[in-house]
Amino acid sequence: MSKALDGVRILDFTHVQSGPTCTQLLAWFGADVIKVERAGAGDITREQLRDIPDVDSLYFTMLNHNKRSVTIDTKNPEGKLVLEALIQKCDVLVENFAPGALDRMGFTWERIQELNPRMIVASVKGFGPGPYEDCKVYENVAQCAGGAASTTGFDDGPPVVTGAQIGDSGTGLHLALGIVTALYQRTQTGRGQKVLAAMQDGVLNLCRVKLRDQQRLERTGTMKEYPQYPNGTFGEAVPRAGNASGGGQPGWILKCKGWETDPNAYIYFITQAPVWAKICNVIGKEEWATDPNYATPAARLPHLKDIFAEIERWTMTKTKFEAMQILNKYDIPCGPILSMKEIAEEPSLRKTGTIVEVDHPTRGKYLTVGNPIKLSDSPTEVKRSPLLGEHTDEVMTELGYSPEQISALRTAGAI
Ligand code: COA
Repeated sequence: MSKALDGVRILDFTHVQSGPTCTQLLAWFGADVIKVERAGAGDITREQLRDIPDVDSLYFTMLNHNKRSVTIDTKNPEGKLVLEALIQKCDVLVENFAPGALDRMGFTWERIQELNPRMIVASVKGFGPGPYEDCKVYENVAQCAGGAASTTGFDDGPPVVTGAQIGDSGTGLHLALGIVTALYQRTQTGRGQKVLAAMQDGVLNLCRVKLRDQQRLERTGTMKEYPQYPNGTFGEAVPRAGNASGGGQPGWILKCKGWETDPNAYIYFITQAPVWAKICNVIGKEEWATDPNYATPAARLPHLKDIFAEIERWTMTKTKFEAMQILNKYDIPCGPILSMKEIAEEPSLRKTGTIVEVDHPTRGKYLTVGNPIKLSDSPTEVKRSPLLGEHTDEVMTELGYSPEQISALRTAGAI
């Protein structure tokens, strides 16, 4: 079966996490992704957090599936010529270097346009134009600068970063959307364009509801669904809301049977208004369904802590999976706190290709997260990440270089 992005060639200048997540998605949708790395070293993540000596790390392998790897020294004059040939052949150049690195290499937007006016140049940067535009940025910096950390955690503790890589992988996703959108516009205009996804902007986009709350707070001085209501105090900025749901339906994380020894024996429980009577029945508080202090969502807001404490008395008598089974029967929204171990072993995720086992020539078998976006006409087949420079000769041959020229460039240290 054909793939959605068949025929699209991506010159992949990305490294670490944010850029590689973007180009991996494009590769899964069928683009030919040619990853350019420095000979002898490659993407720094190849050697970071290694669990097997001298073998590409899981950090690298899990972010670089379905790509080809070529080594080019882009600071070597002959290496630059190879890169120029690639720019002429590709549709999109994706990069997440520190600000200015591509220009310093000699590949400004103007130069790239000269070489290929159809080229889309897509970049991840830490910040957009402004006071921080020259800063190098990693995941947690973006989480802090994008508003996530100040709104995550508990009221009596410091700001907290989240395990979901919303700064890196989140921005990679944003960039991928920008790229396919620019490719679509190019079908009308015939021209390439610059695509920028700043990590601060990406995180803020995912924290949109917190900017909503900032304005609500400024107008009314309170937010009744936050745990600070009614007994705590609100300051000038959106506070950390613990495990409150962030939406119109109050929720909280509750202990389940076994919580004393299992750190993940918890369930997320949502007291959705339409099923309030069913919740009251399940936990044995039938009288709350009609009690004016509990019967309506507005009446419940000042009592949320007590309500969740009462529900928890019930969830603590069940395992998280038993509680799920019972609650789902009544359409009560809830979700188990799943550990990574449980997720890795979950058969349904294997079945859908969300968790995939991949074989690698030096690492052997390992698990990875497959494509979370499923297209019915463009199924994803997850292929192992390339070894460093595995496809240099293949790509050079496609560019028209002879075996003699390839070996001369190698001797000159250009590839
Ligand atoms: N041949 C020759 N030189 C190469 C090369 C190649 N194939 N590939 C990269 N380089 C050079 C670059 O030109 C740059 O040189 P310069 O500084 O002399 O101009 C150098 O390698 C290092 O690039 P840089 O991006 O500065 O790497 P770093 O390890 O110092 O910084 C980041 C890493 C992630 C902090 C930085 O790239 C960054 O801020 N990126 C944007 C935001 C981002 O994506 N952050 C999240 C990463 S998950």
